[in-house]
This record gives sequence, structure tokens and C-alpha cells, in this order.
Amino acid sequence: MDLVIRGATVYDGTGGPARVCDVGVTGGRIAAVGDLGSELSGRSVDAAGLALAPGFIDVHSHDDFAVFVMPEMDFKVAQGVTTTVVGNCGLGVAPFAAARAYLGFFGVDAQRGASLPTWDDYAGYLDAVDADPPSLNVAVLVGHGTLRLDAMGNDRRGATDYELASMADTLAAGLDAGCVGYSTGLIYEPGRYSSTEELIALARVMAGNGGGVYATHMRDEGIGLLGAVAEAISIGEEGGVPVQISHHKASGRSAWGLVSQSLVLIDAARARGVDVTADQYPYTAGSTSLFAVVQNADDGSEGVGETDWGAIVIASAPHHPEWEGESVVALARQFGRSPAQAAKAVVDAEGYGAVVIIHSMIDVDVRTVMAHPTTMIGSDGIPTVAGKPHPRLYGTFAKVLGHYARDEHVLSIEQAVHRASGMPAAKFGFADRGVIAAGAWADLVLFDPLVINDVATYDDPRRYPTGLRTVWVGGTAVMRDGRHTGERPGRTVRR
Ligand code: ZN
Ligand code: CU
Repeated sequence: MDLVIRGATVYDGTGGPARVCDVGVTGGRIAAVGDLGSELSGRSVDAAGLALAPGFIDVHSHDDFAVFVMPEMDFKVAQGVTTTVVGNCGLGVAPFAAARAYLGFFGVDAQRGASLPTWDDYAGYLDAVDADPPSLNVAVLVGHGTLRLDAMGNDRRGATDYELASMADTLAAGLDAGCVGYSTGLIYEPGRYSSTEELIALARVMAGNGGGVYATHMRDEGIGLLGAVAEAISIGEEGGVPVQISHHKASGRSAWGLVSQSLVLIDAARARGVDVTADQYPYTAGSTSLFAVVQNADDGSEGVGETDWGAIVIASAPHHPEWEGESVVALARQFGRSPAQAAKAVVDAEGYGAVVIIHSMIDVDVRTVMAHPTTMIGSDGIPTVAGKPHPRLYGTFAKVLGHYARDEHVLSIEQAVHRASGMPAAKFGFADRGVIAAGAWADLVLFDPLVINDVATYDDPRRYPTGLRTVWVGGTAVMRDGRHTGERPGRTVRR
């Protein structure tokens, strides 16, 4: 064997009870699980007292461009993530010209954008990743917003049959290339102008092209949460595809508590046979483009929850780093203007590149969602190169395992690992990943279960979690004792 990890407490990703045993790796895959005491190996790791889990799958990421701009992806692999699902919230990477419109949102400024490889379509993106791979694996969702921008610009109207056919073609080609589903961002431009019928029609295209997951940043995560969940379910039910509700939450004071009811809607749909699940990042603050917050406040749609400018803090403002860490209310005082005017001034100066943190949730809701068996883990991290990103970018998986599972018993460690590995692998159709079993890819994370925790904060977010020991991607170590090895063994995970 190339590698034997000896005596770890193995959480195999299925949610079943952990057991102490050895895991052997050959040729990038797990060769054996059990007592390998007599087995010779090129490398042997004494893992007594440590926990071994399948590498984590970040089902909700915005790492689309980061895999080229920051290919070591340290902020992800340092928390045990070995596969990232990009293309969420309707923001996809193809067609390339339309995708570039969103560069700022992904934390890529124009200068860095200029050094990106170019591609035309999803097949081109997937090939570009494989040609110059990052340190982790990459699975791709087709972004509906990008399709729509390409087909009909930012027009505030329904799609014509011709435009819908154009979107359907791009979607089908993406699925053909190996994309694992399509995503929507229904608070964002231009997804917010699409009708439920448009989204069902595209879901049917997906169902007719071998299937895929419908992942949605819903129209409303505030007081309209239940209607938005009902819409998401109807798209899956009528379109004939599984649904993934992105970053399930109740945002804004008047929406707090609604997650108990949205979970009932999910359970009811599942009882009817609709495959509905969700993902969550374990924090009481969200993060998005200030542009979207201003727009939603302007037209009163409140899809991001009611606007409380005092609870909105600038995370990233590439042209005005002095604004980072300041609330909109504090900036308003500086500018001598109203908070709404100050927010607009920031957007005028920064465009999509102004990313904010919004303190809009309560911890009891976070726990209610996390305790529910339909919830997976997804960071929703926005990989900005500069500024103070939301700490979820660095700490999501460690926080669920350490704080919420081990310390607070919101769910068991077995469950936490399952929601981060076996469960998403099954949902997104990642063959031979997400479990520790003979034949599976050797994507593995070794951690100290007594120490693991998130130490990133809103003030000081760029901190690796504690307790992570070694992270392997396809049998190659990418992190060892808290340091990146420089290896980039990632590959695309295609449908
Ligand atoms: Zn989103
Ligand atoms: Cu997102």
C-alpha cells in the first residue's frame, strides 16, 4: 500500500457509528478498511486518538474563479474540504463573456480577471480546471443567471420561447459536459425577473438530459420564506428533478422562527416523494453583494429580509479598503448622509465588488435547521482576495464539528460528518466519494476531535481552524500539520 492510516476512529460518512480501524490507500483510492496491522506501506500514519472522515464536500461554494486565482485553495482545504461545488446562486462560469460580469462578486478584480484562462462553455471550463488543477476537486452547477444574461441581457421581463430555447441549449450542453445540476439566484439580477414557469421548463430540460440537482437561492428568505420554499418544491416536483435549498435560513427579525415551518414543508414534500434537501452555513450572519441588498431595499422586495443598515457591515470594498469592517450606519455618519444614501454611494464606487456581512439571523434558528436530517453543510464562502470575508469562508466545517456537534450536541459527530460527505455525494451523484470504503477515492481528513474548531471571527476572519491534522485529495496530502503542502491533485467531478 502507498499509505496506511493506523488506528484512527473512523467516521465512514454513512452516519453509522464510528469504529477504530486502519485505512489503506493505493493508487489514489482506498484499498482496504479494517485491521491492516501486518500490511507494509510506503507511508504509515499513527492516528490513534484522532478521527478520520471522508474529505468534506462543500455543496455551496462560489469558488468558480478562485480555483484559478488561488489554486491552492488554502481556505477550503485547511477546513477539510476536498470537493467544492461551484456555480451556486445562479452565478455560473459560462458562457464566459456573461460570467465575467459577475467577477466582482467572486472577489476577483479586473486585473486578476485578466490573468484567467479563457473558455467558451462549460466543457471548456471543466477542461481548463483539469489542465491546471487546484488542490481540491471541483464539481460544477450551471448558473441560471448567467444563462439568462447571455440569452436576453438584463431585461426585466419573462423570457420569450426563443430565449428560453437558447437557455435550454446552454444548460443541456453544460449537463453533457458533466455539470451536476443548475442553480438559481432569485434575489439577484437577472434571475429575479424569471417566472416559476421558466424555471420549471429548465428543470424539465435537465430531467430530459439525464437529470441533475436544482439548487436555489430562493426569492425570499425573509417573511416570504414559506412561499419561496413552496416555489422551490414545485419546480422540483413539476420539473421532475431533486431540489437543494441553498443556505436555508430565516433572515430579518420578523422572519425569525419561520424555519420550523419551512422544515415542515420540506418533510411534507419528501413524504410525497420529492427529493428535497437543503444546505446551511453555521453562522447568524449572511453575506452577499451590497448591490443586491440595495436593490431589494429599493423595490421593497425584502428577499434578503427587512433592511437593518446598522447590522450590515462592509466585508470587501476593493477600491476603498478603509470602509472594510464599518457598518453602513457608521459610513452614513462619516458621509453625512442617510444610511440608504451611504449604501448607494458604496455601490456606485464599487459595483458588484462591494460585499457585505448582514447580521440577520438568530442562533436558535441555526440550530433548528442544523438538527434536521435534511440539512447538509455548505460554506457559501465568497473567496475575496482582500478585505474581511465572512468567517464561513474559513471555518464552516470545523464550526459544525467542534462547536455545534461536539460542544453543543445539536447533532452527533457521525451525523455532522455524514451531512458533509456521504449525504451530499449521494445527492449530487458523486460516485465513489463521500464515504470511507474500499474502492472509494482517498479523499480523507484526519482531525483531533477534541480540538477541532473554527477560530475565524468577523474582525479576524483569515484564520485556519484548529484541530485539522492532514487532508488528502485522491491519496495525496494537501495539508499536513496545519500547512499546505503545495500539492494540487484536484480534478473535476463530472456527472
Ligand atoms: Zn445565495
Ligand atoms: Cu451562494
